[in-house]
Amino acid sequence: MYVRRLFWGFLLCIVHSALCIGAEVKSPNGNVVMNFTVEDGRPTYTLHYKGCPVVLPSNLGLELAKDKHASMGMEERDLLEGFTLVKEETTEFDETWQPVWGETRDIRNHYVEYAATLSQEWRSAPPKAAPGQRLAHRRHERHIIIRFRVYDDGIGFRYEFPQQTELNYFLIQEEKSEFAMAGDHMAWWLPGDYDTQEQETQQTQLSEIRERMQEAVNWGNSSVAVFSPTGVQTSLQMKSAPVDIDGEKRSLYINIHEAACADYATMHLELIDEKTEHFSTELGGGSNAYTPWPKASECPLPKPYTFVSHLTPDATGLKGAMQTPCETPWRTVMVSDDARDMLSSNLILNLNEPCALEDVSWIHPTKYCGVWWEMIVGKSSWNYTDEFPSIKLDRIDWTKVKPNGRHAANNEKVKRYIDFAAKNGLDQVLVEGWDVGWEDWANMWKRDVFDFVTPYPDFDIEMLNNYAHSKGVKLLMHHETSSSTQNYERHLEQAFQLMNKYGYDAVKTGYVGDIIPRGDHHYSQSMNNHYLYVVKEAAKHHVMVNAHEATRPTGLCRTYPNLVGNESARGTEYEAFGGSRPDHTCILPFTRLQGGPMDFTPGIFVTKLSEWSDNTSWAHITIAGSLALYLTMYSPLQMAADLPEHYERFDDAFQFIRDVACDWDESIYLEAEPADYITVARKAKGTDNWFVGGKCDENGHQSTIKLDFLDKGRKYDCTIYGDAKDAHYETNPQAYTITKRVVKKGDVLKLTEAPGGGFAVSLMAK
Ligand code: NOJ
Ligand code: CA
Repeated sequence: MYVRRLFWGFLLCIVHSALCIGAEVKSPNGNVVMNFTVEDGRPTYTLHYKGCPVVLPSNLGLELAKDKHASMGMEERDLLEGFTLVKEETTEFDETWQPVWGETRDIRNHYVEYAATLSQEWRSAPPKAAPGQRLAHRRHERHIIIRFRVYDDGIGFRYEFPQQTELNYFLIQEEKSEFAMAGDHMAWWLPGDYDTQEQETQQTQLSEIRERMQEAVNWGNSSVAVFSPTGVQTSLQMKSAPVDIDGEKRSLYINIHEAACADYATMHLELIDEKTEHFSTELGGGSNAYTPWPKASECPLPKPYTFVSHLTPDATGLKGAMQTPCETPWRTVMVSDDARDMLSSNLILNLNEPCALEDVSWIHPTKYCGVWWEMIVGKSSWNYTDEFPSIKLDRIDWTKVKPNGRHAANNEKVKRYIDFAAKNGLDQVLVEGWDVGWEDWANMWKRDVFDFVTPYPDFDIEMLNNYAHSKGVKLLMHHETSSSTQNYERHLEQAFQLMNKYGYDAVKTGYVGDIIPRGDHHYSQSMNNHYLYVVKEAAKHHVMVNAHEATRPTGLCRTYPNLVGNESARGTEYEAFGGSRPDHTCILPFTRLQGGPMDFTPGIFVTKLSEWSDNTSWAHITIAGSLALYLTMYSPLQMAADLPEHYERFDDAFQFIRDVACDWDESIYLEAEPADYITVARKAKGTDNWFVGGKCDENGHQSTIKLDFLDKGRKYDCTIYGDAKDAHYETNPQAYTITKRVVKKGDVLKLTEAPGGGFAVSLMAK
């Protein structure tokens, strides 16, 4: 590993505050410039890209709660103003590191860092004195550091709180980090929600967010908590109107998110628009019923088109309980005039800490199928019986209950899936509904919902694991917690021991419904601590984790690479719940995937669900488009989500899923435009084989792919899985063509993607 840490000659360590005026900090290639000052006691920054404004002057700081648990108690003061700059330090860092799994073998982490130490001083009234005695005012002083890392494709900044008597324990009322946009940009956004991320992305100008909000909320989700008519989630992707760059009119692509969110609440953004009269104080959606409404903020309102951070509260309504020394996650702003740079950026991974696990030999990319889609579609059930209106785990003799005949996780069916996986080179088989408790698992706010160790009578856990292992396949464990985290934490050790005993090395967890402890929210500090606790405990047992409904990722998979996947967005399951727009998968890589891979569960071949069930929903994609997702939606964990019999019907197309890798030495984004199309070429890890995938929206797309990434002088067997001429995601989704030829470096492929379609290409080195 090559590490260079260059302390610049002008390392500033100026003790006298009056001399500190702030700094201009340039990225290594000079394209990104961050300016920091303290104006009227308030820390302020700006950001420019190739001379164009990206973030206009924006204030930084935090509101703290006056609370008996804070070291300053009811005398607590905000960390917003009254600051002087007492020390500045600028350094450059350049290293190249290798992820355990990823889109590329090597990742360069090259930035210029600027750390500003700020002092806040004030005097408080003297304590009560005895009659005739005069006591002096008390002088108070505390320090925080705001640290910036300036990259060629954006910045990260965070607050650091060194340990000190007057800032020891504190409670966050709200973080007030501002991101003042330079215009009324186009934005791809999800409603800000404390409990769900499973909405369709909205595409509007910033000024149109307010009027679109009501219809954007997924009111039907089992846990909904919206906080503002202009509140949105991160990662938020935007595009500016064309500006003058390098003598041309070009748009800026701007993305706001966060990195390394640990022991802290997930951040949303509240947009200040022309109609904003005050910061949000209203909550909507049932999961808010017991959360105290936000306290009105005394902060002055910034100008329109400024986003202000809005953290997820816990059951108290507060946003964080902190003990110094500590720091916030990094707040990130990515920027480029080329949309492809948004997808190839490693800024968020780079802002995370290096791998914390010593032994990572047990972590591996995984392709899997599962007893899953048929329950999602409604053809079979997770639960074993329909006999009782509710169940208490300790009062049921499962051998005596009447089976409903629809329970999918049964020995026969699981063996069928194991056989299918073994025959087709899939590594694992997920089985949902194997453990008792599914009869009343959802939406009852029930604490003791599962024990994670007791199988239903028709699931022979020992026999099935032995059977799988004898065929070179593993079962993939499922722990639906129903958001009862208290219950899950109590059973976790036993649950992992059971997995170790039977040879499971991966678990899919789930957090459907409102959280227990009751009143808490999915993305609060306490819940984020829970998710990370599970990942760390899993690592002790050599278990990989794929968490559904957990908070959106922020690159923690660099530090804990056994976090191999998250859902944390609207996945394929919604194709069975009414469907998702075809452009959905052309947006997710710009937004949700910035923080880490998604268990999107692609691969639906029989898209009209009524062909095999009573479900009238249909998947908004062609078969060739489904294949493309294995490339455009990067993940080390990839599911082949459809039923084995559906893949057997289209075995020639399934060949691509058999062949495609899910770990890469190189990735090159060839074309990209948010919500329109994404084309990527990837070189399979440890091989000379390449795979190219292209996915488009409902309008179709024409791709011209120059194969200049191939090795010179080498020939490749090229198989193209494309949409047929008359393919269409709605009317003709199963029309695909498979063509084979031999190609070499420099050859050109011209490929037509149908509406809602795509293509997948394998290039096997000869
Ligand atoms: C929601 C998850 O996203 C889905 O994959 C899972 O099957 C159900 N919860 C049940 O756990
Ligand atoms: Ca889900």
